[in-house]
Amino acid sequence: MTRILSGMQPTNQLHLGNYLGALKNWVALQDRGENLFCVVDLHAITVPQDPETLIRSTREIAAAYIAAGIDTAQSIIFAQSHVSAHAELGWILGCFTPLGWLNRMTQFKEKAGKDRENALLGLYGYPVLMAADILTYHATHVPVGEDQKQHLELTRDIAGAFNRRYEVDFFPLPEPQILGEATRVMSLRDGTKKMSKSDPSDMSRINMTDSPDLIAQKIRKAKTDPDALPFSPDELETRPEADNLLTLYAALSDVSKRAAIARFAGAQFSLLKAELTEVAIEKLGPIAARMTALMEDTAAIDAILRDGAEKANAIAQPILAETKRLVGFLPG
Ligand code: AMP
Ligand code: TRP
Repeated sequence: MTRILSGMQPTNQLHLGNYLGALKNWVALQDRGENLFCVVDLHAITVPQDPETLIRSTREIAAAYIAAGIDTAQSIIFAQSHVSAHAELGWILGCFTPLGWLNRMTQFKEKAGKDRENALLGLYGYPVLMAADILTYHATHVPVGEDQKQHLELTRDIAGAFNRRYEVDFFPLPEPQILGEATRVMSLRDGTKKMSKSDPSDMSRINMTDSPDLIAQKIRKAKTDPDALPFSPDELETRPEADNLLTLYAALSDVSKRAAIARFAGAQFSLLKAELTEVAIEKLGPIAARMTALMEDTAAIDAILRDGAEKANAIAQPILAETKRLVGFLPG
């Protein structure tokens, strides 16, 4: 059986990294089996959120899933906070997660910064909740960007610890699916930094709802280096900006990186930028237009999320009930 689960946080705007590293792959995978795509609002509050903005962003992420091609006839779209099994299983799994494992999580270290005294328990426990998101559905495959690989390894470790403790083969160990050419999209301003929702510079990323003019401007201003584009992949190792722009071109055009390198070998950045702009507008434009249209009917989005929560709950509840039985909780 294949059961796919993935999610995105309703924080700020989705960008090209979210699309190429995750969402585009979800759409391509969705006819393989059962799919659950979650808007992870419980995760969002691990950093401060304005309540009104959080509601809007939750709907916006659901709209982005649909606009990008997630089909509600095939896939379940829901909000994490609507299915209480996530939080309940998160607590149970926390009792199988040594601090040493959490201390190794690079995302926590990046987000918490130096001031550990004031870092929040929720941010520290974030990967345990993510493990619960996956394990509460017995999901087998988890399509994500490269940055989530460590969290997926932790999920497998937690599942293994639980199974060993009760001598059962209860939680399947989920497979990360890190697919496509653009598994780690980098900032347009600095090819050594990840493209991120939280980068203070909007010029560092292409948002999924940017207008064609803004996309063109951001690509025009993207950082480059003085040389012509290379002839071989090895040369890209020391040229992060060239690497990133070629990767973006390859992923958006659905060609291999090798083909993209061959196409622009010896050319100036201006040619690559012109063609990248064209394909980015062609691919993102229709998604942005559908998102805007969907956001005009928030009642329809809410109904989709309600329906999704009902279906997700029907899968999660029996698994949570069995987990509680294994642990030894008195049946309610
Ligand atoms: P987040 O925005 O942190 O909720 O991430 C949602 C999904 O997008 C996850 O699967 C991430 O791995 C993926 N993602 C985020 N940023 C990037 C990036 N710069 N490149 C590739 N994938 C990304
Ligand atoms: N941690 C993921 C991110 O920041 C989002 C996420 C939460 C997720 N729960 C998940 C991804 C479960 C896949 C499966 O990108």
